[in-house]
Amino acid sequence: MSHIITEIRQHCLTITLSRKDKKNALTREMYQDMANSLIAIKNDGLTKAVIIKGDGDCFTAGNDINDFAKQGDNAEVPETAAFMRALAACEVPVIAQVHGLAVGIGTTLLLHCDFVYATPDTRFVLPFINLGLVPEYASSYLLPKIAGHIKASEWLLLGEPFGASEAHQFGLLTAIVEQSAIDEKVNQTAEKLIAKPSFSLRQTKSLLKGDADNVSQQINEEFDIFLEALGRGAAKEAFDAFLNKRPINPEKFK
Ligand code: COA
Repeated sequence: MSHIITEIRQHCLTITLSRKDKKNALTREMYQDMANSLIAIKNDGLTKAVIIKGDGDCFTAGNDINDFAKQGDNAEVPETAAFMRALAACEVPVIAQVHGLAVGIGTTLLLHCDFVYATPDTRFVLPFINLGLVPEYASSYLLPKIAGHIKASEWLLLGEPFGASEAHQFGLLTAIVEQSAIDEKVNQTAEKLIAKPSFSLRQTKSLLKGDADNVSQQINEEFDIFLEALGRGAAKEAFDAFLNKRPINPEKFK
């Protein structure tokens, strides 16, 4: 069974992450399914907006750590790369609807969306450094631009969770919306976008994304270092600790 549910209704593609028992942690198959659905709308000429949201009690706990642990020395993740490229290149506006938790790529993918609504309880975290990894998805480039070097350093070098009000204050969110109202708010924004003329909608987004080459280059550079980090001892220790529900051994996390 696929853990990605897609629905196209009234010119809007909705992608729902649906792996509730694992906090919607993203597997390689899920990345590929999302990439496929984004690529499919590229040339359909009909779809005018995309919504990404999570089922259950959170948006997503980020990349599946079992997958990370398996990748190890033989690091090749074409599905993740396909998803990253497809979302970054999406020609129509993307709305993220976030609640509960947005971990790792659950936060970095928001940097590639055009509207981000989050409930007040949402916790964001960029835990890469605490897993022996490095930033991905151009977050080391986009976060300093959006939030400033000092805040980006705090988020990426300490890897501690932060709340919706901080995320809003530093430019990650369009608005904080109560859980009871977020579906309606997201749908309203989608309806407004769908009412716009197609050419203007796509071109406006394209003009706003004028920095795409730099973003793409940073994604590639980060990816090379990320894959190297995946095979190193610190990451292996962090994954093993998580999977075996034990604390990290500092002797092995250097
Ligand atoms: N990869 C794989 N499995 C994950 C996961 C992930 N990223 N996040 C959560 N899960 C699994 C847990 O192993 C657990 O599975 P189990 O019931 O078979 O033991 C289940 O989802 C529920 O998670 P749990 O840890 O019990 O929930 P929690 O509410 O106590 O904590 C998190 C939620 C997200 C804070 C915690 O699971 C976590 O830290 N996950 C790892 C996040 C992460 O580092 N992601 C990688 C980013 S680069």
